[in-house]
Amino acid sequence: MDSPFKKELLYSRIIIQARVKELAGQISKDYSDREPILLGVLKGAVFFFADLVREMTISSRIDFIRAASYGSPVILVEDIVDTGLTVTKILKILKEQGPESIKVCALIDKLERRNMDIVIDYCGFQVKEGFLIGYGLDYNEQYRYLPDIYTIR
Ligand code: IMP
Repeated sequence: MDSPFKKELLYSRIIIQARVKELAGQISKDYSDREPILLGVLKGAVFFFADLVREMTISSRIDFIRAASYGSPVILVEDIVDTGLTVTKILKILKEQGPESIKVCALIDKLERRNMDIVIDYCGFQVKEGFLIGYGLDYNEQYRYLPDIYTIR
């Protein structure tokens, strides 16, 4: 389906693939003696999550966000951190589940509207502003399937 928006390529699939591989390498190094649970936040992180887990060189367990109890180290995998409200809420719930540790991995750290203090331990790309679609990111549930990331205007 054609987009009613003007979309501009921001990160090509080649660039995304290379960056995801770097992040996976860094996480694998940091958790070389542990088996972390990668906890994906549906739905936006789904493509990023699948690629990240498959690029990692250590064994890991996977789950998607739900109220379970996690005794191991947890890495929360998000698509975009914008205002920071979503991640803050999720972290609050997660901390009550008693994980050994929690780190945040986000594909995109969007700085424009951030109003909460959040540490993103593993960040794919930092963008200043704009609305992004593709590689899991949607506008009204559309465009998630696009392999590259675009900004729309
Ligand atoms: P926050 O709670 O303001 O940090 O927003 C985070 C959530 O909003 C993300 O998990 C996305 O689902 C959505 N979101 C924020 N910015 C964008 C964007 O540029 N494109 C697509 N989704 C976005």
